[in-house]
Formats: sequence, structure tokens, C-alpha cells
Amino acid sequence: MQAALGGAVDGVLAEYRVFPAHALVKTPQHLTDVEAAALPCAGLTAWSAVVKLGGVKPGRTVLTQGTGGVALFALQFAKMCGARVIATSSSDAKIERLKSLGADVTLNYRNTPDWGRKARELTGQGVDLVVEVGGVGTLNESIRATRIGGTIAFIGVLAGPPPSELRLPLIVLQQQRLQGVTVGSIEDLQAMADAISINGMKPVIDRTFPFDQAKEAFAHMASGARFGKVAIAPGEASAFD
Ligand SMILES: NC(=O)c1ccc[n+]([C@@H]2O[C@H](COP(=O)([O-])OP(=O)(O)OC[C@H]3O[C@@H](n4cnc5c(N)ncnc54)[C@H](OP(=O)(O)O)[C@@H]3O)[C@@H](O)[C@H]2O)c1
Repeated sequence: MQAALGGAVDGVLAEYRVFPAHALVKTPQHLTDVEAAALPCAGLTAWSAVVKLGGVKPGRTVLTQGTGGVALFALQFAKMCGARVIATSSSDAKIERLKSLGADVTLNYRNTPDWGRKARELTGQGVDLVVEVGGVGTLNESIRATRIGGTIAFIGVLAGPPPSELRLPLIVLQQQRLQGVTVGSIEDLQAMADAISINGMKPVIDRTFPFDQAKEAFAHMASGARFGKVAIAPGEASAFD
């Protein structure tokens, strides 16, 4: 797991790279290479959280946090499974885009810092699954959002330091499951690619930068202005003008 692509090991930002054949799957035919490049990390992590470990079924409710790569894939997979999605963002403009991706309910987590309480109120009993990309900084609200016996798929650490007191006793009292998620297996990647093909699903690519503007791509990532994935493709800037 330490060697997961897109993780701690450098070397994926390359125009050519050799991979062992057993580590590869055929990309869905309807996707461009840039779109397919979003699948092995953000896509597969969301697939594991929602489908494999989350076991989301029609009629269930899933809460996604923000408009990053993992969260948007999670929204799309949850809708594919027939679930209702409550999606959050810090930006009202991005919330409009979440709605067009199929989010049933949206909450601005800046204007509504108690979004977990709000999600619980909206559902009556709480959501079945939270796709937790914020980490300990958002965990208290996620615990509040989740129903008794529900699951928090613990994936990322975007939200910064923990609050002074974590509501861990509530996890016990509500018999919630805190499910760690690390990307997924090659079998899961194949299953996800098949599902994406059958459903004609398209990953959300915010912007594609040419290879010689990789630094600008990372700066754009850090700016917080994006919606979904930022891609770097082979080629020079002129090809993208
Ligand atoms: N466990 C794994 O296998 C695995 C795999 C991939 C990624 N990750 C981790 O999962 C996290 C998400 O990855 P990503 O690639 O989707 O990230 P990303 O694309 O960088 O996500 C950025 C977005 O996250 C949202 N966000 C930031 N702080 C937030 C907060 N406090 N509450 C809610 N949303 C917040 C913002 O959305 P708005 O602008 O809409 O507010 C922001 O635009 C990262 O920590 C990453 O390292 C883990």
C-alpha cells in the first residue's frame, strides 16, 4: 500500500513509464486518456468507499465532502447505485455544479458549520455513509451526520487539525463503523472500469495542463478554484492553446 500510485512514491509524473502487465486494466473505451488517468487513485478510492466497503444500495443516503476528485467520483458512484446524495462545498458556485452532477441536497459547509446536524435533520435518522475526506477536522460533524449503525469511510486529511474534543464516544453509542480506505485492488479497478463503461460515466476533469506546465498545474491545485481533477498530459503548451 506504501507504493500506491499517487501516494508517497514519486515517479508518476512521466511521459513514459513501465508497469508490470498484471497491474494494468483496459481503460473504458468512451474515456480519453486524461479522463482514464483519474481512475486509479481518486476513482478507485471512491469506488472502494462507496461500492466495495460502503455497500451502498438503492435508497441509501451518502454524504460527500467538497468538490475534489474523490468526492465527485463518490457522488457519481453513489448516484450510479441509486442512492440519494447530500453533497457539501465551501462555494455556492460549485454547489450549482454539484446539483448538475446529481446531488439531491447540497450544503455550504462554510455557511453551515454544523452541516452534520443539518444532514441528520434532513434525513430524519442520519446518513448511511459519509465519504470522509476531511479527516479528524471534519470527523465530529460526520459522526453527527451518520445514522446509528452507519459507516464513515475514512479517506483523507484535508480539513487540518482536530477539534479540542473528538466525539468518539458517540461512535460507540451509535454503533457506527469507522472504515479506513486505501485505494483498492486491481480486481476492484477492473470492476470499476467495467461499471464506468456500462454506465457511460465521465470523470470530472477541471482543467488539463501540458507537461511543460506541471508547476502551474500544481499551483492551480493549491488555489482551491478547481472542481474535480486537474490533469497533466503529454505535450507542450502550444498544443493546448
Ligand atoms: N486513502 C486513500 O487511498 C486516498 C486516495 C486518494 C486521496 N486520498 C486523500 O483524500 C483526500 C481527498 O483527495 P482529493 O484528491 O479528492 O482532494 P482534492 O481534489 O485536493 O480536494 C480538494 C477539495 O476538498 C474540499 N475540502 C477541503 N477542505 C474541506 C473541508 N474542511 N471540508 C469539506 N471539504 C473540504 C474542497 O472542496 P470545495 O472547494 O468544494 O469546498 C476542495 O476543493 C486527500 O486528503 C487525499 O490525500 C486518500
